[in-house]
Amino acid sequence: MNICKAKNYQDMSRKAANIISAQVIMKPHCVLGLATGSSPIGTYKQLIEWYNKGDLDFARVMSINLDEYKGLSPENPQSYRYFMNTNLFDHINIDKARTFVPNGLEPDPEKACAEYEEIIRKSGGIDLQLLGLGRNGHIGFNEPADAFARETHCVNLTESTIDANKRFFESEDDVPRQAYTMGIGSIMKARKILVVVSGEDKADALKATICGPITPQVPASILQLHNDVTIVADEAALSKMD
Ligand code: F6R
Repeated sequence: MNICKAKNYQDMSRKAANIISAQVIMKPHCVLGLATGSSPIGTYKQLIEWYNKGDLDFARVMSINLDEYKGLSPENPQSYRYFMNTNLFDHINIDKARTFVPNGLEPDPEKACAEYEEIIRKSGGIDLQLLGLGRNGHIGFNEPADAFARETHCVNLTESTIDANKRFFESEDDVPRQAYTMGIGSIMKARKILVVVSGEDKADALKATICGPITPQVPASILQLHNDVTIVADEAALSKMD
């Protein structure tokens, strides 16, 4: 694992955007695995800035997002499709028909997940997967569990995740209880993985991810077994490392 230390959120975002830019420049038709949440917002802002300066071209890029709430439509401001449109896709020249998010409106989990795995397979594989880290060590919506889930699947969100995400909803009751997420196996197949981590509330999860035993109780710990992982973390997130 390559650990890249950043001063703060802004510095982390610039460093992560640099890595994504390098990928897009080196392989203009690359497949980017993307994430939502607060961690990558600054990275997306930086990419938009460089795109506006004429330094980046997303015309041939394809993107595949990690997850989506089950039951939310793309027009719902809390859906991850809406997040991606407003925080990135609407501001760059990516072809939206080549941007993929699990279909939150598909009520049949088996169908939704099989279709998504097929999209990943047909893409030829993810070149660079961007990840945030949950306070309980989750990646995507792969929550602490007794076993690592391999492929895209439907999950029941844990109390910790519902609590962390309720800030985006009017009330805790509005937070969907289920989501479709790429599995650990789907994530581990990406050729490169980039994790952005900021803030003291992630320090325990980050330490467990990097130094702890590899266990499905800390889903991100599996990343220790991937041969091309870069973690860009700020000082607060790294504060529990010795
Ligand atoms: C988002 C995702 C989640 C988040 C994680 C961290 O697509 O899959 O795993 O990356 O919950 O969220 P933030 O960045 O909001 O702290």
